[in-house]
Amino acid sequence: MQTVRVALADRSYPIYIGERLLARAELLTQHMPQRRAALITDSVVAPLYLEAFARTLAAAGVNVTSVVVPTGEQHKDWGTLNTIFDALLANRCERKTTLIALGGGVIGDLTGFAAATYLRGVPFIQVPTTLLAQVDSSVGGKTAINHPQGKNMIGAFYQPLAVLADTTTLNSLPQREVSAGLAEVIKYGLIRDSAFFAWLESNVDALIARDAAALAYAIQRSCENKAEVVAADEREESGARAQLNLGHTFGHAIEAGLGFGVWLHGEAVAAGMVIAARVSQHMGLIRADEVARIETLLERARLPIAAPDLGLARYMQLMGTDKKVEGGKIRFILLRGIGSAFLTADVPHSALAAALTTSVKHD
Ligand SMILES: NC(=O)c1ccc[n+]([C@@H]2O[C@H](COP(=O)([O-])OP(=O)(O)OC[C@H]3O[C@@H](n4cnc5c(N)ncnc54)[C@H](O)[C@@H]3O)[C@@H](O)[C@H]2O)c1
Ligand SMILES: [Zn+2]
Repeated sequence: MQTVRVALADRSYPIYIGERLLARAELLTQHMPQRRAALITDSVVAPLYLEAFARTLAAAGVNVTSVVVPTGEQHKDWGTLNTIFDALLANRCERKTTLIALGGGVIGDLTGFAAATYLRGVPFIQVPTTLLAQVDSSVGGKTAINHPQGKNMIGAFYQPLAVLADTTTLNSLPQREVSAGLAEVIKYGLIRDSAFFAWLESNVDALIARDAAALAYAIQRSCENKAEVVAADEREESGARAQLNLGHTFGHAIEAGLGFGVWLHGEAVAAGMVIAARVSQHMGLIRADEVARIETLLERARLPIAAPDLGLARYMQLMGTDKKVEGGKIRFILLRGIGSAFLTADVPHSALAAALTTSVKHD
């Protein structure tokens, strides 16, 4: 087992990464203020892991309440959040009852927001079961639900007490979800870690084949990168944390424009990172051969590199409601080469228009 620490003073916490960690209740109980937990999961993960996991916790003396919500991004909303609150209240969950998110990023974001607001805040532990959640969404304390007008528009910063990433759970993941997770892995290489990007170029086939050692290294390196960024800028104030959103302004527009759940989040981010790279290229910041390397790696990870054709006007409208809008100006994460990202509001419309029109797939 590897342990990566997120250093946030009194809110610091460990990320445990390894095989068959779901069977190790002590990793969680040592962080729980009371032997009482509410396990929140979804309708796909429940039949795979809920019963055994709940039994493991019960054997460690934990009184467990389980809440199962429907799977899917389209359920990351107020309605589902309310069913979680209903269950917590019906089962008389208290201030010291720990909410445990067992599932992908949707469950992590929903449960985290529920934990931040139920009784004004209760303990929270992340048990991510998708690659995307293990490398990204379970770490860093961003929690949210979607609004029909935009992704993740309602939420809170709320750090977990611990993250338990059991890599064995990835064996049941559909191949498309593995690729979607790799989009965020590749993102870390692009924004701040060119050596990791090169490692990914050599190991992407092993990752796609779910080689355990390759996956463990990719998860560890991703969590180390994310932990460093979050420790430097927890609440996205200095611009450092915003770099984690490379490709996301475009990606969120794709997700919202097509309707949540049509493209997976990681797929939209992959196409969005290509648009960001091309905007950077139009501004003379990154060379054509580097853009080609980015596209090749994403394609080898079986990710889309062409965005859906929503039309330039619709893209601009959708991006206007992104959270990175400040003083009415859309802010973008661009690349000065592989391994170096920066935040800017100074993007000529011509570069955006050129990148958006050359990056779409015409059918
Ligand atoms: N909070 C953050 O910092 C942050 C960062 C990145 C992404 N996100 C959010 O994360 C979400 C995407 O997360 P995701 O890709 O994990 O999606 P997801 O939670 O929808 O999971 C994908 C699918 O896999 C299923 N699943 C989960 N674990 C499984 C397993 N082990 N075996 C088989 N099936 C399994 C789920 O039921 C779901 O159907 C988006 O809502 C995105 O906004 C949040
Ligand atoms: Zn993301």
